Amino acid sequence: MRTYLVTGGAGFIGSNYIHYMFRKYDTDIRIINVDALTYAGNLENLKDIEDRENYTFIKADICDKDAIAGIFAENDIDRVVHFAAESHVDRSIKDPEVFVRTNVLGTAVMLNCAKAAWELPDGSFRADKKFLHVSTDEVYGSLEEDGGYFYETTPYAPRSPYSASKAGSDMLVKAYMDTYKFPANITNCSNNYGPYQFPEKLIPLIINNALQGKKLPVYGDGRNVRDWLYVEDHAKAIDMVQEKGRLFETYNVGGHNEKQNIEIIHIILDTLREMLPDSDPRKALVNEDLITYVEDRKGHDRRYAIAPDKIRAEIGWEPETMFKEGIRRTIQWFFEHEDWMRNVTSGDYQKYYEDMYRNR
Ligand code: NAD
Ligand code: DAU
Repeated sequence: MRTYLVTGGAGFIGSNYIHYMFRKYDTDIRIINVDALTYAGNLENLKDIEDRENYTFIKADICDKDAIAGIFAENDIDRVVHFAAESHVDRSIKDPEVFVRTNVLGTAVMLNCAKAAWELPDGSFRADKKFLHVSTDEVYGSLEEDGGYFYETTPYAPRSPYSASKAGSDMLVKAYMDTYKFPANITNCSNNYGPYQFPEKLIPLIINNALQGKKLPVYGDGRNVRDWLYVEDHAKAIDMVQEKGRLFETYNVGGHNEKQNIEIIHIILDTLREMLPDSDPRKALVNEDLITYVEDRKGHDRRYAIAPDKIRAEIGWEPETMFKEGIRRTIQWFFEHEDWMRNVTSGDYQKYYEDMYRNR
């Protein structure tokens, strides 16, 4: 039975990936989930699978060399899927250091521990061991409104502390592949949305605020463009790259689904109105008047757009979920998980929201 070591599996994409993998492989794989449980990590995301015999959760920091080396020593790990990171651009602008620590140092620790566990005396690596580094399209910087796409060959040009730290982590993975022929892949994905996404990010924040009749903060002119991908399609891409991709290659993952932020907000409002029954008192709160233009994000990247040509041609991956369908599924999930939203937005979130939006 193949053993996966997933880092950051209690976060948004990591928990969706773990669900996807158990749906696909059931008892044919074992998953060890290592997560430090920062504000973004939530074991509630994994409640329905926590009792499986082929699943283990370990609370550990990826920067803790001894803890990570210990996990490799005690388990014969076949696959690493490395999600753990600080992931929110606005937080990185306020407090960059933790991004450098987790995203750069943490990735270095993961690489080193995997290398030590998998390397043979002659410098080659044990058969069928693979490391997948989950990265972002933000490493490529910002595109013009009227043209261009991110390809795997696009030069790195990160512009925020978050994307700079992810670029640093990518460079470390590339260095391990070039120097040691370390068996790895990198995926650079566009913006994800779906169940379990923490409401600091645009889509869950807008859904949550709209349902409470709270202001919907739009940064700048609202015309920045992101390329949105349903999270389950990302989970599938990661699995396909690890199984079918060529080692040492980078694959861009994206949906050709570019939308301006203001369009996203209008789609969410329309979809909420369609889905809420007339008898639901929240329906009256969902209103365009809530849209509030606020001070722009510093250094706000204008447009991201992935060209997923390579992953389609080499691996046969394509996004399956159209945005209209994905956003309905996401909203339905939030309707059915009101407790989840209440729990993650109580306590520290209130302070975060106040600090981030008070003076905007
Ligand atoms: P997230 O913030 O929801 O989850 C991050 C997880 O990592 C959390 O569970 C957190 O507890 C854990 N973590 C943080 N620091 C840790 C540490 N030092 N040690 C161990 N665990 C730690 O992030 P996400 O949105 O799920 O993103 C996952 C990965 O995918 C990240 O590497 C991110 O850069 C990348 N990515 C995200 C998107 C997106 O749209 N969200 C798109 C492309 C790539
Ligand atoms: O492109 C991939 C990246 O997508 C990932 O690497 C990051 O981890 C992920 O957070 C995401 O980054 P963005 O900065 O694009 O996502 P965010 O949801 O924070 O913002 C999306 C857009 O919406 C962006 O242009 C900023 C804008 N925005 C965001 C918030 C939270 C608003 O206008 N208002 C808001 O309140």
